[in-house]
Amino acid sequence: MGTPTEIVFRKMIPADVDAVNKLDEKCFGGDAWSLAFLISEVKNPHCKYLVGEVDGKIIACAGIEIFSDEAEMTTFAVAPEFQGRGLGKRLLEETICLAKKFGATSMIFEVRCSNIPALHVYQKFGFRKIGRIKNYYYDSEDALTMGGEI
Ligand SMILES: CC(C)(COP(=O)(O)OP(=O)(O)OC[C@H]1O[C@@H](n2cnc3c(N)ncnc32)[C@H](O)[C@@H]1OP(=O)(O)O)[C@@H](O)C(=O)NCCC(=O)NCCS
Repeated sequence: MGTPTEIVFRKMIPADVDAVNKLDEKCFGGDAWSLAFLISEVKNPHCKYLVGEVDGKIIACAGIEIFSDEAEMTTFAVAPEFQGRGLGKRLLEETICLAKKFGATSMIFEVRCSNIPALHVYQKFGFRKIGRIKNYYYDSEDALTMGGEI
C-alpha cells in the first residue's frame, strides 16, 4: 500500500473557479457546468463549496445548497489521477461536516444510474436510493435521487 495522500480542504473562493472548471471538465465531460454557472454558484449565499488541495493544486471539489434543515449536494468530484485512494470518502466526510455546520440534518442529491464509483461511496455513508428521474442527464440517462440523515 502506498503513502496516504495528504489532502487539505478549504472553502472555495471566486479565484478558484478556473481550476474547478478544469477539474469539472475532466470529471464530468458533457455534464460539466459552464464557467458562468460556477461563478454564480460560488456567489450564491445559500451555496457552500469546498475544494481539496494536494501540494497546493485543486484536485477535488464538492458543494451543497442549504434548504432549511436539508442540504442538496450539487457537485462532488475527485480528479481522475487521484481517484481510488480514499479521497472520495474524505471529501464526503468534509461535505457532510459542512452541511451540519449550516444546520442541515439530512442530505439529498442526484447521481447517474451507471455511476458505480459514486454509488459505492454514497452507500458507504448510509445514503439510500429514494427516487428515479427519467432522462435527467444531457444524454438521456436517468438519475437516481439519493438521500439520508447526516
Ligand atoms: C465518485 C468519486 C468522487 C469517488 O472518488 P474516489 O476518490 O475514487 O473514492 P474513494 O477512493 O474514496 O473510494 C470510496 C469507495 O468506493 C469504492 N470504489 C471507488 N471506485 C470504485 C469502482 N470503480 N468500482 C467499485 N468500487 C469503487 C472504493 O473501493 C471505496 O470503497 P472501500 O472503502 O470499500 O475501499 C470519483 O469517482 C469521481 O470524482 N468521479 C467523477 C465525478 C462524479 O461522477 N461524481 C459524482 C457525481 S454524483
